[in-house]
Amino acid sequence: MQITHLDHETDFDGWRDQARDLLSKGVRPEDTVWRVGKAETDLFDRLTGKVDAIPPVKQITVPRSFLSNAQMAICHRDPARFDLLYRLLWRLQATPGLLANAVDNDVYRLNALTKAIRRDRHKMHAFVRFREVIGEDEETFIAWFEPEHRITELAAPFFMRRFANMRWSILTPDRCAHWDKKSLTFTDGATASQAPQEDELEDLWRGYYRSIFNPARLKIKAMTSEMPKKYWKNLPEADLIEPLIASARALETQMVEAAPTPVKRAASYEFADLDTAPADAIKALRREAASCARCDHACHATQTVFGEGPTNASLMIVGEQPGDLEDIAGRPFVGPAGEIFDAALADAGLMRDEIYLTNAVKHFRFTPKGKTRLHQPPRVAHIDHCRWWLKAERALVQPRLTLAMGATAIRALHGKPLKVAEARRGFECFDGGDALASLHPAAVLRQTTQANRDACYRSLVEDLSRAKQHAPAA
Ligand code: URA
Repeated sequence: MQITHLDHETDFDGWRDQARDLLSKGVRPEDTVWRVGKAETDLFDRLTGKVDAIPPVKQITVPRSFLSNAQMAICHRDPARFDLLYRLLWRLQATPGLLANAVDNDVYRLNALTKAIRRDRHKMHAFVRFREVIGEDEETFIAWFEPEHRITELAAPFFMRRFANMRWSILTPDRCAHWDKKSLTFTDGATASQAPQEDELEDLWRGYYRSIFNPARLKIKAMTSEMPKKYWKNLPEADLIEPLIASARALETQMVEAAPTPVKRAASYEFADLDTAPADAIKALRREAASCARCDHACHATQTVFGEGPTNASLMIVGEQPGDLEDIAGRPFVGPAGEIFDAALADAGLMRDEIYLTNAVKHFRFTPKGKTRLHQPPRVAHIDHCRWWLKAERALVQPRLTLAMGATAIRALHGKPLKVAEARRGFECFDGGDALASLHPAAVLRQTTQANRDACYRSLVEDLSRAKQHAPAA
């Protein structure tokens, strides 16, 4: 009997190398025992005799799909998976077309294991919820998740691509994945108590879930199959599910009876087409922001002026705060500074509907003077409070480059003061994203001579052109 040791439960490379070696020596599947852990001689090892080998297999060939399925199947908790895979590898040498025989016991079992792993990975991609942890250096997002199988390594590359600009860790009982914006690493499993319990992002998830819940289309069976109850305990929105189901009937009647709400649009701008999942999330975010009262700005302004544009934009442009007209229209840059901005955009060869446009502060700050409202720049505390929204917008849009227009936007994005002249050469955002800076379009309006106005305008166009060059449209 041959005892073969693997380093850990999902040691695919170890399994592949040793399986090749066993096969080349002609060791039969029934003469092989697979063990996970250190190679220690125990009673069983001592009792086993010499391997009764048959003539060795000279050249090992397997279909490519076998190796990719084996890599998945190894993540399954079935203790017999290593034997199954070696047996299949052995049989494939004599029957190369074996995998096409779906009713063969071994093939059937392999297909069942890979199907379970695919499903588990899909659930992990859908139900991991990060919680924000403010550390000494930089915030990190941590999630606790309990997959059915040992799939952390298999599922982690998805999160690396999706949340490339965030530092995150996903803790699971078997294995933990960590991304520091440069490399993906893995450590041993953790316990639920090592993960943070709650944070502000949870309200966002709840708001999002509430907003997409349509009582008229409620199908409880389909819903619990897509979001099985075992995942509920780690989902912030889960505590809404039962009350929403309970009130669905009443809500449906209300929806049928309610008159349609007229849609109000600002004069000459249309919202850009937003794409699927992140767009839904950004709509939910916009709704949440509409009732934001995090600072004293909110109670004086008419409304929150949220960002707009495609959620797959490669360029994000950030202004200071809405002005008088933006406050009334509910859209960024539609007043006098917006006119300069639009002209400069066009001169730089950019179009509004290809950028994500937002402000560092989402409410208009002013002092009343007679019938007019005089613009007041936001204080640092306002910028800091409002960064929460900017952070959430950035996490969803993940722009390749951000252009900060003026000192407030630079302060919001950099997290600390930086001169406009220095920031124009490039700087790093609080979340590690790349940014450039320009003058604010309103600076053009403040110049008292035509020559200075022209110079400011040219500088704005130049910076917008550089931004376009570094972040061509998606
Ligand atoms: N100035 C800004 O910074 N943003 C606006 O939306 C309008 C004027």
